Amino acid sequence: MREQETELLKVAMPKGRIYKQASKLFREAGLPIPSDFDDTRKLIIEIPEVKMAFIMAKPVDVPTYVEYGVADIGIVGKDVLMEENKDVYELLDLGIAKCRMSVIGLPDWQPSIHPRVATKYPNVASQYFREQGQQVEVIKLNGSIELAPLIGLADRIVDMVETGQTLKENGLVEMESIFGITSRLIANRVSYRMKNEAIQSLCDRLQRTISAQRQHV
Ligand code: PRP
Repeated sequence: MREQETELLKVAMPKGRIYKQASKLFREAGLPIPSDFDDTRKLIIEIPEVKMAFIMAKPVDVPTYVEYGVADIGIVGKDVLMEENKDVYELLDLGIAKCRMSVIGLPDWQPSIHPRVATKYPNVASQYFREQGQQVEVIKLNGSIELAPLIGLADRIVDMVETGQTLKENGLVEMESIFGITSRLIANRVSYRMKNEAIQSLCDRLQRTISAQRQHV
């Protein structure tokens, strides 16, 4: 980014499933995110009126941008935060994009001698089964995880469940819920000190909006 933009608060915004809810929350908090952002292919979007720049990121990369300080703050799901385990501050639970991390399998699942678990979250899965005292081979996949038990690659999967529709349509069952997921606001440690006023004021605005929404539920 150009020199005069260094005063902008750089926000790593996840594209995809979280974006819609996150941009809605920001708009409700009074931040004028133009609606033409929603379909843009632009990767850096500046809103000089509120001294902010949005970096449109792949969700899994948000903690990396924030850890390295190329984004001051970011929005990321707890699932990615747990998996990536980066050195960032977790500032606020935004309460959006609610879902859960679960162990999933076929209804007739039986323990096997060499259990295999497929997942997009190898660190989360490994830690979970280690804590359960179960030895499993964790296979990292990048998507369509539910295929693994159907085609015999793994006997169970660890994946995110939101509506449960994917499980239903593929004849799978949720065997255990590991943790609940919502999106979080995270900050780079140095930015949090250097741009504290801007970050804190954004946090307060978001917090007020979230609290007001809760009162209306
Ligand atoms: C996620 C997740 C499940 C699905 C759960 O996949 O990995 O497959 O959503 O949602 P549901 O409970 O509402 O059906 P995503 O859509 O991110 O795509 P992916 O398969 O490429 O990971």
